[in-house]
Amino acid sequence: MKPSNQPTIPSSPSPTLILGTAMWGWTTPRAACFELLDDFYRHGFREVDGATNYPINKRPEDFRKAENILLEWIKAHEIKDLKVMMKVGSINNMRTPENNLSKSFLLMLLDEYRNLFGSNLDTFMIHWDNRAAEAEIRESLEALARARELGVRAGLSGIKHPEAYAQLNKEFGFNFRIQFKHNILQSDYPRYKPFHGKAGFITYGINAGGIKLDPKEYGRGSSLMARGGKTEEEPAIARPLKAILGKATRAEGRPGVSSFNHCGMTFAYHSPDVTGILLGASTSKQLKDSLEFFSALKTYNYRDLYERLKELHEKQAGKV
Ligand SMILES: NC(=O)c1ccc[n+]([C@@H]2O[C@H](COP(=O)([O-])OP(=O)(O)OC[C@H]3O[C@@H](n4cnc5c(N)ncnc54)[C@H](OP(=O)(O)O)[C@@H]3O)[C@@H](O)[C@H]2O)c1
Repeated sequence: MKPSNQPTIPSSPSPTLILGTAMWGWTTPRAACFELLDDFYRHGFREVDGATNYPINKRPEDFRKAENILLEWIKAHEIKDLKVMMKVGSINNMRTPENNLSKSFLLMLLDEYRNLFGSNLDTFMIHWDNRAAEAEIRESLEALARARELGVRAGLSGIKHPEAYAQLNKEFGFNFRIQFKHNILQSDYPRYKPFHGKAGFITYGINAGGIKLDPKEYGRGSSLMARGGKTEEEPAIARPLKAILGKATRAEGRPGVSSFNHCGMTFAYHSPDVTGILLGASTSKQLKDSLEFFSALKTYNYRDLYERLKELHEKQAGKV
């Protein structure tokens, strides 16, 4: 048997990393966003995720603030080779399901984002759709088809009825990129069954919004707290995770796994259909840690740890 400290020979390309911007201009100040972009870009990464409604902090004056920080950085450095994924449809940042996915509105946004981002626009993604009606979804797909003609990839996120999209896609033939929530506590992968093996899946929320194994690690600007999560007590998942980490990670020649973030990255990296991992790093220090651990995932074999995390995830999902 191959010892696990030997380099992995990947059977399929490893997932790429995508820098998330959901907390930009909210818990992550503009200067920190600039530092994150500088570091991410300097390390050779190019993919950045955005959405018209970021940050979703219920402050109307912050609508589109995250994309504007990104645009400011792009302009300041005259960047032309980013790969920006824009999620569209929301008409405010109030955390409500109000949106507009009509063909005309999507085409208008496509035009606008092509003007704003130029060659940096890579993916145009429908964001939050609760509709099931075929005629309405068809309209949205017609707008994505226009994006494809212009060399922009098509994506889906927060789709309540993936089966309706899959049915229509028999005509459209999109090679969709799909953002889905996927972490040890919870995963939307089962809901996207019609696309299993047929789309490039991109994980978000790998830290379940900012969970720490030890409550002492939560800072004052903790992103979990800002999102309304509990930070006073050790999360219930901490004990079984620490037991797994105690057994699994050390003494095998590979870098150790010490945080919820490392577990989330391992779980995402080896999950089926995953072609991208969204990083929600809020500081340069966190980004450095995630980039280093990504490099370890590419170099060493962590599949045994993944299997243990998957077992825990399945037990957890059974509880819900
Ligand atoms: N498609 C969608 O509907 C959707 C939904 C949500 C997010 N997204 C995208 O996915 C991105 C990531 O989502 P998310 O913010 O929910 O991700 P997440 O990974 O679950 O949470 C991010 C938080 O985890 C903590 N963290 C991240 N890296 C860490 C590290 N190396 N060490 C320790 N803690 C670390 C930070 O919390 P602290 O700041 O408290 O330290 C950070 O704010 C977003 O920015 C957005 O672009 C998409």
